[in-house]
Amino acid sequence: MERYHLTEGDSGKHDGRPVIYDGVAIKIYEDEDPSRILVQFTDGITAYNMIKKARIAGKGRINNAVSAMLAGHLERGGVRTPFVRLVSADSQLCTKTDVIPVEMIVRNVIAGSMARRLGIEEGIRPGNTIYDLCYKSNDLGDPLINDHHAVALGLVTYAELQEMYSMTEKINSILLPLFKGIGIDLVDFKVEFGRLPDGSLMLADHITPDNARFWDIRTGERLDKDRFRRDMGKVGDAYREIHSRLLSVSPFFGSDISDIRQMSGH
Ligand code: TYD
Repeated sequence: MERYHLTEGDSGKHDGRPVIYDGVAIKIYEDEDPSRILVQFTDGITAYNMIKKARIAGKGRINNAVSAMLAGHLERGGVRTPFVRLVSADSQLCTKTDVIPVEMIVRNVIAGSMARRLGIEEGIRPGNTIYDLCYKSNDLGDPLINDHHAVALGLVTYAELQEMYSMTEKINSILLPLFKGIGIDLVDFKVEFGRLPDGSLMLADHITPDNARFWDIRTGERLDKDRFRRDMGKVGDAYREIHSRLLSVSPFFGSDISDIRQMSGH
């Protein structure tokens, strides 16, 4: 339990390790075990394809803990996640996958780019769950694509897409009631998937306030990266609020992820 508290532990010092990915919000390092990677969450934050950049003190630690807690809930619900174990206050060991360059966005409530693009007011709850695909390409600005584009580009097969939709639906079905229980409307979130050496697919992403929209059910307050995108202030407070509410419903936090996997039979 202790190790998930934000004041616990040092930030990871991974100098000397080969860097696989050096992003603003995440750095990824090689591990001695070639089937693993070390993911470090930093305090950096960006929006609008890197146009806006800043640092939010403590965000790296919060995202590390939030991602680990949500991985625990997903594993308990039978979803395999890349999370292996926490390494330091801001880093975790994860399973390495060959990441598919397609982002899948799930929308339970209309907000952000979908509201803008279609001229719909934010906050409308559609009768169905909406899935968007985006092609991960910085040069092209991560354009919205559909299943057929993704297959034509050689990014995925139709069978893989089907599996990605069903895994994403399952993730949403686990997270919706979890967040509802802590007074949060899970408006939308983004996930990515990767291939394991045997060709099977696995979630290859972390769910944090950086890539999801969390609205307080009672007040409608936004507790996610929109506070940064839209200059609403109190970004760190919002991230801390999500962390502390999640802590209150994560009873298994003393357990190792392998125990959780065993409990859920996978
Ligand atoms: P979306 O509304 O499409 O974009 P924007 O944030 O520009 O309004 O985003 C939907 C959700 O997916 C939102 O919670 C942010 C997340 N997301 C990412 O994490 N990365 C991305 O590249 C995109 C496009 C979305």
